[in-house]
Amino acid sequence: MTSLLILNGPNLNLLGQRQPEVYGHTTLAEIEDTCRQVAEDLGARVDCVQSNHEGVLIDAIHAARGLHDGIILNAGAYTHTSIALMDAISSAEIPMIELHLSNIHAREEFRRKSYIARVAVGQICGFGPEGYPLAMRAMMVHLAKISENQHDA
Ligand code: DQA
Repeated sequence: MTSLLILNGPNLNLLGQRQPEVYGHTTLAEIEDTCRQVAEDLGARVDCVQSNHEGVLIDAIHAARGLHDGIILNAGAYTHTSIALMDAISSAEIPMIELHLSNIHAREEFRRKSYIARVAVGQICGFGPEGYPLAMRAMMVHLAKISENQHDA
């Protein structure tokens, strides 16, 4: 069974209370419940992890090797600063989709730079909590394509 890791970075534990005008009123627990529901619909397994600490996120990416087939990563502000997270994704060699609730390209200049984007299959941003199910579906399509290509080879 395909297994996905939903990995959320700093301050995302405060969703629902944090700048609702930007991030909405949905809590992280609600988003994770939806992800579990969507995983069931897709016939996939899902694990949800959140941390405010860069090293813990890196450990979670390393631990995903051999356990998960795809990662959905909302790295929060580490998106714009963390070469270490980017390197962790490259090292783990697991397909990753970059996710943001807000449209980072329509906000402050410093949010337009993403280290994560360099190692992502693609980016979904600006759709609020609905971005998570979108990313999960996109990952399932991507993984199916990879597996088709492997069979053809
Ligand atoms: C965010 C966008 C980041 O710029 C910000 O630092 C966050 C949340 C988003 O989901 O829109 O913490 O990743």
